[in-house]
Amino acid sequence: MKHSALTPPMRKLATMLESRTGQVLTEDRLWRLETSLRPVLRVNGFEGLEELVAAIAVDPNGTLARAATDALVNNETSFFRDARVFRKIEQDLLPSLMADPKHNGRPRTLRVWCAGCSTGQEAFSLAMLFANNREAWPDWRLQILATDISGTAVERARSGRVSQMDVQRGLAITDLLRWMVPAGDEWLFDRRLREMIDFRVDNLLSPAAPLGEYDLILCRNVLLYFPSERKRQIFDLLARHCSADGILLLGAGETILGHTEGFVASSKHRGAYERSQSPAGPSFPRQTVPPGPFPA
Ligand SMILES: C[S@@+](CC[C@H](N)C(=O)[O-])C[C@H]1O[C@@H](n2cnc3c(N)ncnc32)[C@H](O)[C@@H]1O
Repeated sequence: MKHSALTPPMRKLATMLESRTGQVLTEDRLWRLETSLRPVLRVNGFEGLEELVAAIAVDPNGTLARAATDALVNNETSFFRDARVFRKIEQDLLPSLMADPKHNGRPRTLRVWCAGCSTGQEAFSLAMLFANNREAWPDWRLQILATDISGTAVERARSGRVSQMDVQRGLAITDLLRWMVPAGDEWLFDRRLREMIDFRVDNLLSPAAPLGEYDLILCRNVLLYFPSERKRQIFDLLARHCSADGILLLGAGETILGHTEGFVASSKHRGAYERSQSPAGPSFPRQTVPPGPFPA
């Protein structure tokens, strides 16, 4: 980590961000710091970063620290981000996961975890993909746990509301007409989709949500700015909550290589990872509880 070009208050904010989220603010992302925090400064009547840092120091886990963290994390997301991945999920991964004999009993439920879900576009894309194919999978239901450290992002996701600008980023007109209704100058997702997703504020470094076992885990574009030891910590967490034949998907350009023994590159699904079955690998205590928020 190198924060040498930072002023002392900037350095403190970068350190706070890293210790709360795991994210390192690299120098090329420094420009974000002042612009991102401007609304927090304005709302609280602070003249500059120094005043903000002094106020956070009084209550390091308080509302202000959370607001500053929320403002600094990168929440960039869009519907069906990287369309190839969603095609793969639809044509390859879901059919393969559903063929697993462990699902022969009832109810036939696939559990998905969107780790680092931002404002919900990824989880809603999955819900739409599934709901658009109901006839292909009539006996199935999809339960999605979607977590993010940012309270602001999760609140937005949970509202099911999307701005006009956001629907223009990756949402097909057919999906818009089928699954959304106008709500003022925004759009609102159909209740049936909203009910498929449990949005929760949670930190991957110290999770509190009742995590269970997931058939498909998406942790895309979350760990890009995490140092290696934090990546390891989070990949190990994901491995503990991945079902025996479960799949992990990362963002384009992200890899587990060198960061965990909990997953290996999938031999069946190019670009995906599966939980390591190797007895030589670290032994992960298995999670057997189903995710709490959904009915059994
Ligand atoms: C760039 S967005 C990616 C959103 C979505 N997965 C996608 O690919 O479109 C990264 C998200 O990870 C979240 N995040 C960062 N650190 C986190 C942590 N320690 N625990 C949980 N979420 C975190 C951020 O708040 C942000 O919303």
